[in-house]
Amino acid sequence: MNQNAPIGIFDSGIGGLTVANAIRLLMPQEKLIYFGDTAHLPYGDKSPDSIRYYAIRISKFLLDRGCKAIVIACNSASAVAFKALQDFFSDRTIVINAVDPLVKAIVSDKDIHTVGIIGTKATIQSGSYARILQQKASGLLTHSLATPLLAPMIEDQFHLRDVSTDIIASYLNELPLQELDALALACTHYPLIKDQISDLLVSHKIRILDSASPVATELKTRLLESGLLRVNDSEEDSEFYLSDKTESFEKSAEMFFGSSITINEADIFTGQI
Ligand code: DGL
Repeated sequence: MNQNAPIGIFDSGIGGLTVANAIRLLMPQEKLIYFGDTAHLPYGDKSPDSIRYYAIRISKFLLDRGCKAIVIACNSASAVAFKALQDFFSDRTIVINAVDPLVKAIVSDKDIHTVGIIGTKATIQSGSYARILQQKASGLLTHSLATPLLAPMIEDQFHLRDVSTDIIASYLNELPLQELDALALACTHYPLIKDQISDLLVSHKIRILDSASPVATELKTRLLESGLLRVNDSEEDSEFYLSDKTESFEKSAEMFFGSSITINEADIFTGQI
């Protein structure tokens, strides 16, 4: 594997851009190839089998482009498809998921004894966070809540409207807020509403954690360990692919990566795997 090969990143839509952005800030010399599976979002409402199928197809597409690492920048896909991707591809590339790095960030903070976890139905129903957190820190208490309206709302830019605050508040009020030391945003879309969540939790002392920078840090560690950190300093443009071009994706990608980016549509779901 070549140090100057790109890093592949995927999500159902714009959520993974929060992770791509953290990777770019930590390792600006790396070339990124991003795939947003906008034709199939929201992943959170799909069955584990469907999500695994999409994840395998996308990973194959990224591997065909020579990616030295594949970052599952989606908690739903990480929760149900990580093992399948490891089984299929880890002999050819590094595979990083979004769950383990966030778990690591939670358990390494010794002030966190009780944590709320919000994510899509797929993530929460998989039980991954509660299970892995229990394995790593058996005394930690978890309160998990599926918040299925949030990712589609963010994807549609609806979170920029006032009404979204009521939806977020209504979900948060289902959690035992008085008991929480931290809230884990277990969906890569949610950093885009982090400010609204902080405002709503202002009277509580609750740390808000998300996957973006823990994933970037984990990726850097793995690249370093494998001698695959890019050595070439010349900046290369990132590439963006969508299974269905959406205006919302273009706006968000421009917000993070500037207006000069090109977004391509890629039909990767037809034909044999
Ligand atoms: N951003 C994704 C996640 O972290 C998926 C959201 C969705 O498509 O439902 O779970």
